[in-house]
Amino acid sequence: MKFFVTGAAGFLGSHLADAFIAGNHQVVGCDNMIGGDLQNLPEGIEFEQADCGDLAAMKRLTKDVDVVFHCAAIATEGLSVFSPALIGQHVYHNTASVLAAAATNNVKRFVHCSSMARYGNGPVPFVEDQPLEPVDPYGIAKYASELLVRNVCETHGVEYVIAVPHNIIGPKQKYDDPYRNVASIMINRMLQGKQPVIYGDGGQKRCFSFVQDCVNPLIKMGTLPHVAGETINIGPDEEYISILELASVIAELLSFSLDPIMVPDRPREVRYATCSADKARRLLDYETTVSLREGLQSIVDWISAHGTKPFAYHLPIEIESPLVPETWTARLI
Ligand SMILES: NC(=O)c1ccc[n+]([C@@H]2O[C@H](COP(=O)([O-])OP(=O)(O)OC[C@H]3O[C@@H](n4cnc5c(N)ncnc54)[C@H](O)[C@@H]3O)[C@@H](O)[C@H]2O)c1
Repeated sequence: MKFFVTGAAGFLGSHLADAFIAGNHQVVGCDNMIGGDLQNLPEGIEFEQADCGDLAAMKRLTKDVDVVFHCAAIATEGLSVFSPALIGQHVYHNTASVLAAAATNNVKRFVHCSSMARYGNGPVPFVEDQPLEPVDPYGIAKYASELLVRNVCETHGVEYVIAVPHNIIGPKQKYDDPYRNVASIMINRMLQGKQPVIYGDGGQKRCFSFVQDCVNPLIKMGTLPHVAGETINIGPDEEYISILELASVIAELLSFSLDPIMVPDRPREVRYATCSADKARRLLDYETTVSLREGLQSIVDWISAHGTKPFAYHLPIEIESPLVPETWTARLI
């Protein structure tokens, strides 16, 4: 089969591309390199540095493609509160353009990476068909993109599946981004002998998926006939832990003496977020194969092998306001 992966130089996209290459499939990928790393790309991928908003490029790259995996996004949920135009462009508009290209080229299936941000502060564990109440521009753009995927695909006869991942962890994740990837940020800091920074009281709770436990169900979403038209959470519903507990587990793995730096909470940060994996278990035979500790250890090993890095404040803050965390304005992370 021939697959097109957007955001192929990013974390999830590059792991998907690895899996397709390992399965002897043809893989085409694009990335605008706003967040990716060319080192992440597997040998054998046909890669073009292109923005998903470039419709002509998307039409060229989706020629003869069977399945599109749309992973490209700027997924900085916390920053989206202050940079809604950036997030709208790289979540919603980029989806519209890739969809237009996919429909033009009669792609068979479109697998869309949405986000648990669609549920906002709804009751946990989140189930796919509960009312959606996104609370920030990222969640709103992801939800709007889902509506667009359904609409365009239904009109033009393209099968679609909407994947709703948790926080994903694992090697190749960008660990110098001060705006997202909490586990990687903490590990990058602790390996430099620096205390982790925690927003609010650290009682926010999350689940974390190891990347392979996300890639395996995603591949099934691209290929199994009976999941067309479905929206499915992917990731474990076990090991639901607070951010403070996450810091302790990492500190234990690193034998680090923990005394976290507590800073004011961030506007609109969701308090409790975990998804039910029942539908994934039923439709995709989902099972968690890597524990949280094993997943965190793999990041420790990855960062140790590649070296710690200073944080790169690579994205613009559009709304200058006293609400912007000082961690970003004063570059404290
Ligand atoms: N990682 C997570 O915890 C997580 C959780 C839920 C959902 N998701 C979703 O999964 C997808 C992949 O996330 P990730 O963690 O791999 O992020 P990532 O930042 O590592 O990868 C995304 C890639 O998309 C590229 N990109 C951004 N805008 C683009 C554009 N307009 N055109 C082309 N390329 C563009 C970036 O350069 C980056 O390489 C995203 O859609 C994200 O919203 C991720």
